[in-house]
Amino acid sequence: MFEKLDKLPSDPILHLSTLYRSDTRSDKIDVGVGVFRTPTGETPVMRAVREAEQRLHDAQTTKTYVGIAGDPVFDDAMIDLVFANSADKSRIRAVQAPGGSGALRISADMLYKTMPNKTVWVSDPTWGNHTPIFEAAGFTVKKYPYLNPETKMVDEEKVLDALSKLGPDDIVLLHGCCHNPTGSDISPAAWDRVAEIAVERGFLPFVDLAYQGFGKGLDEDLYGVRKLAASVTDLVVTSSCSKNFGLYRDRVGCAMIMAKDEAAVEATKTHLTVAARVAYSMPPDHGAAIVGLIMTTPELRKMWEDELAEMRGRILGLRSQLANKMAEITGTNDWDFIDQHRGMFSLLCLDKSQTDTLINEYSIYIVNGGRINIAGLKDEAQIERFAKCLAAVTQK
Ligand code: LMR
Repeated sequence: MFEKLDKLPSDPILHLSTLYRSDTRSDKIDVGVGVFRTPTGETPVMRAVREAEQRLHDAQTTKTYVGIAGDPVFDDAMIDLVFANSADKSRIRAVQAPGGSGALRISADMLYKTMPNKTVWVSDPTWGNHTPIFEAAGFTVKKYPYLNPETKMVDEEKVLDALSKLGPDDIVLLHGCCHNPTGSDISPAAWDRVAEIAVERGFLPFVDLAYQGFGKGLDEDLYGVRKLAASVTDLVVTSSCSKNFGLYRDRVGCAMIMAKDEAAVEATKTHLTVAARVAYSMPPDHGAAIVGLIMTTPELRKMWEDELAEMRGRILGLRSQLANKMAEITGTNDWDFIDQHRGMFSLLCLDKSQTDTLINEYSIYIVNGGRINIAGLKDEAQIERFAKCLAAVTQK
C-alpha cells in the first residue's frame, strides 16, 4: 500500500535547521527558524522557568490527567495576560492546547464544525503553517493584501480596504503583534479601524498571538487584541508560550474565545473541548503548569518579565545594528525598515536566486522570500558578515 505514496516536500522552515546543522563551514549563520538566541547562539531555559520547574518537581504528587481544557490556573492566567481589563471575563473562556499550533488547529476544527461555510482570510504573506492548518480543518482560505514590497512595511490602507469588503461569512486571521514573516505590524490607529470595520461588517476576527512581549512590551503588543475585545461580540484568540516563555519543546498554547454572554461562551467552549478530545484527548501538563506557577507567583513573574525585557532589548539592539551596518555598506537608508520592524522577523523580500546564493555560497540559512530571524545573529562579527553578504546579493 504505502509504496504508492510519493515523498512530500520538507517543511520550508524546519528543513533549514537540518541543513544548517549538517553544514560544516565554521562561519555559517542561522537566521531561519524563529527561536530566540543569546549572543553565544543558545536558546536558554529562562530563569523563572528553571525555578518553577524545580518547585513543581518537588511538589508534584501525581501524573494523572489534567482535564480536556487543561489546567484552570494556566487558563485563567492566559485570559488575564491577553485580555487584561479590556472585556468582561464572564464572556471569555480558555482551553490549554499543545502549542500555538495546537490552539490554532482546535480553534479551526471547532469553527469548521460549527460554521463550515465561512471563508478564512489570512494576510499575504502569513506564517507558512496558517493556511495548511485551516485547510486541514476543511476551510477555503483566501488572502488579503498586507505588505508593500517597496517599503517592506504593511500597507494599512490596502488591509483596511480589503477588510471593508468582507462580511458575516468571513473569518479574518490577524497577527496580534510581531507579524510573521514580515515584522511589520499595523499601527494602533489602524487597529482602531479594524475593530470598527469588524463591527460594521460582522466578520469574525481571529487573532494569533505567538510573540507577545517580543515587540514593544507585554501590554503594548496587545493593543489590537484588546481593542477588538472591547469592540466586537465574538472573538477567537490563540496564544503561544513557545517564545515568550522559551517553552518551545514543551508545547504550551491556549485557545481563547469571547462570545456574547456567559451562556454562549460556555456552549462554544464545549465545541472547543470536543475538538481537543478528538485530536489529542488531553493536553500535556508540564509547560502549562510552569506558566501557571510563574504567572501566579509574584517573584517568579517579575523574574520572567525582567528576562523577557532583556530578550526584547537584545532583538531591538540587533535591529538597529543591522540597519546601521546596511546604511554604512550601501550608503542608503533603504534598509531602515529593519529597525522599524518588531519581533523576531524581518522580511527582506529576496527572490529565490538571492536566498539560494545566501545559503549555498555564504552558508547563511534564510527562509524563502528572505525572512530573517534577527535573534539568530549572534554578535557584531556575524552582523557585519551578514550585512556584507546581503549587500552582495542585492546589489548585483
Ligand atoms: C517560525 O515561524 O519559524 C516558528 O513559528 C517555528 C515554526 O514552527 O515554523
